[in-house]
Amino acid sequence: MKKFFIAFMMVLLPMAASAAGGKAPLDHMEADHANKESLQRGMQTYVNYCLGCHSADYQRFERAAVDLGMPNELVEENLIFGDQKVGEQMTNAMPKADAAEWFGTAPPDLTLESRLRGEDWLYTYLRSFYKDESRPYNVNNVVFPDVGMPNILESLQGTQMNSCSKDELLHQEKEIDPLTGLAIGGCLTISEKGTQTAEEFDKTVYDLVNFMSYMGNPVKLESEAIGYKVLIFLAIFFIFAFALKKEYWRDVH
Ligand code: HEC
Repeated sequence: MKKFFIAFMMVLLPMAASAAGGKAPLDHMEADHANKESLQRGMQTYVNYCLGCHSADYQRFERAAVDLGMPNELVEENLIFGDQKVGEQMTNAMPKADAAEWFGTAPPDLTLESRLRGEDWLYTYLRSFYKDESRPYNVNNVVFPDVGMPNILESLQGTQMNSCSKDELLHQEKEIDPLTGLAIGGCLTISEKGTQTAEEFDKTVYDLVNFMSYMGNPVKLESEAIGYKVLIFLAIFFIFAFALKKEYWRDVH
């Protein structure tokens, strides 16, 4: 019993750790790997805005082309900018040591980022940069305080301002503080418009995170389909196993 209890606690501990991880509430998004158009748009945004700094070393262009339903030539023409071939991994030429000097931290590889942070975190992170002149690149982030990454999507989203203290900022939606009765949160507003409206920008980020979610688990659709087949097999197999069990035990009682 004691051993069982210890094992049970060890299973629970990591859950407590992740629950204590982030303080800011995250906006929810539902990744949809069957939505090929969304994934294609996401990949386009990724190679245009992210790949220069963030490699995706475990993802090949060609695999993405096949999975997202794009002909190889189209990918080579529109989504590969250097002299890379479609069969190669999505690497970049940024030297890690220099990048660490420029940004404080080298931009990490993002192939498996959606597995590390989760889609909701990414979706919130990419929409939560705000202007902060005390930072080297004039930006800060609600879910990643003092982040080293510049606000890459600012030209699309516009410049976001923050009218609150750091603590209030953790509540993105406006709400009433039960202790003081004062309104907190609802801090971020666009001061200079970008090229996209708020809805368009949310969609751009949705598609981008959808693509990152795909990179983190490219066989999701396949494994779900196999999962259903296995369950159907088990249901049918159960009928025969049960009949066999009845047959074996018929003369025992
Ligand atoms: C100019 C270089 C640059 C570009 C372009 C860039 N980033 Fe970053 N990014 C960084 C740096 C540097 C960090 C590390 C920040 C830190 O740790 O403080 C970072 C961190 C991140 C993180 C958090 C990693 C973690 O610690 O878990 C995510 C997610 C991310 N970037 C996504 C993106 C996406 C998506 C794009 C494209 C829209 C993008 N980045 C474009 C430089 C860049």
